[in-house]
Formats: sequence, C-alpha cells, structure tokens
Amino acid sequence: MEPSSHAETSPSVPREKFHVLVGVTGSVAALKLPLLISGLLEIPGLEVKVVTTERAKHFYNPQEIPVTLYSDEDEWQLWKGRSDPVLHIELRRWADLMVVAPLDANTLAKLANGICDNLLTCVIRAWDLHKPLLFCPAMNTAMWEHPITAQQVEQLKGFGYTEIPCVVKKLVCGDEAHSLLQELLPRIKLVQIQSSFLSNVGLTVESLEWSWSHGRSVDHSGKREKGP
Ligand SMILES: Cc1cc2nc3c(=O)[nH]c(=O)nc-3n(C[C@H](O)[C@H](O)[C@H](O)COP(=O)(O)O)c2cc1C
Repeated sequence: MEPSSHAETSPSVPREKFHVLVGVTGSVAALKLPLLISGLLEIPGLEVKVVTTERAKHFYNPQEIPVTLYSDEDEWQLWKGRSDPVLHIELRRWADLMVVAPLDANTLAKLANGICDNLLTCVIRAWDLHKPLLFCPAMNTAMWEHPITAQQVEQLKGFGYTEIPCVVKKLVCGDEAHSLLQELLPRIKLVQIQSSFLSNVGLTVESLEWSWSHGRSVDHSGKREKGP
C-alpha cells in the first residue's frame, strides 16, 4: 500500500473520493475486469483499487488495469516486522465499499464458511459489516444449480452483503453460465450519488456508511432466474 494510506484511512482527515475496492476471483467472467474498472473510473469521485486471487490472474492482462492491483504476494512482501502494516487490514480500512465481481464458486464457499487463506478472503473476513459489500456470483449452470450454491449465497446475504443476481448466458461451448456484471455499475452509481448528496448537505462518508448499514437503501429483491 502507498505510504499515504495511513493518513487516507484516518477518519479525522476529510477526503473527497469515495473508495471502491474491487475483488476478482477465478471465473471466466474475470475477462471483463478491464471493462468493469474503466466503467467505474468514469464515475466522478471514485477511487478504485483491485484485490485479485491468483487464479483470477489467468483471465485478464494486468497492463489493462489502470489502478493499483494487489495480490497475495503483496500481503507478504509488505510485512517484515512488528511495526509494518498488514495489507488486508489496511485495505478493509481504506475501502468505503467492496464489490466482488466475479465471485466464483470456490471463493463463495470460502466466504460462507469464514475461510481466509489469501488476501481477498482475509479482507472480507475482516470486513467492517457497517460498510456495503456487493457480490456478483459467476459460474457454470451445473455449479450454480448445486443446492450448496443457494445455501452459501443466503449465508452471505445473512452477513448483510448484497447479491447482484445472475443472468444466464450461453457459453461458446454451448453450456450456460450464470453471471452478471452489467447491473453493477448502476449500483455503484447509486452509492456515488448518495455520497455526493451527503457531502452537498455537509455530511460525511461515515454518515453514508450508516445509511447503508441501517437504512439498507439498496433493495435485496433480485430474483434467481434458475437454480434452487
Ligand atoms: C477456464 C476456466 C474457467 C473457469 N470459470 C469458472 C467460473 O466461471 N466460475 C467458477 O466458479 N469457477 C470457474 N473456474 C474454476 C475456478 O477457477 C477454480 O475453482 C479456482 O480454484 C478458483 O480459485 P479462486 O476462488 O481462488 O479464484 C474456471 C476454471 C477454468 C480453468
């Protein structure tokens, strides 16, 4: 993390940018990461960082990601001794909102069970539940329709996270996949609009977090098109 990050994360230091942390996992939908990041960067007032799993790296070109990209190696590189920051704690503090897109079956299972064996799952295991966390499941229909998927998605919703529901897409191989990134940008825009509204009336990001966690301004009514 940059040296400035401690100051950035202090609640007493006012800042103009709303911090969005994107988590990306090893689904083929991670091909769309560059598109997602460029879409987010078009929204004024957002600062974006990415945390990737090792498997996700297979699907995108890091040269096409114009923001800071963190992976497991950074977590262990950063910490050499007691006084050093711990990256997953710094990132959970830095973020005003996290979006995991795409969320594959493997990381879904880990999150539902509290497993934290990499940087991404550690950030989420340490997540401040007063802050919004959105997740976009993406997997082949065969995986999606296994009954454990619905259980684990419900578990995440039970933690207060918001599911961006899947749509069905035909894959080149003829199979179907459940994935959805396109609903995501309007959700982020909603947060951004709330953020600028709040600052216009002299409120702070802390108030925004409050409104998300207590008011639940995003609806949870998304329906599964298929699956249990
Ligand atoms: C070409 C390819 C595409 C894949 N697509 C998906 C997918 O869309 N959804 C999914 O849940 N797993 C998918 N997988 C399997 C995951 O990559 C695998 O479970 C991996 O261990 C996930 O690791 P991670 O959760 O740490 O990123 C795919 C694997 C391959 C080889």
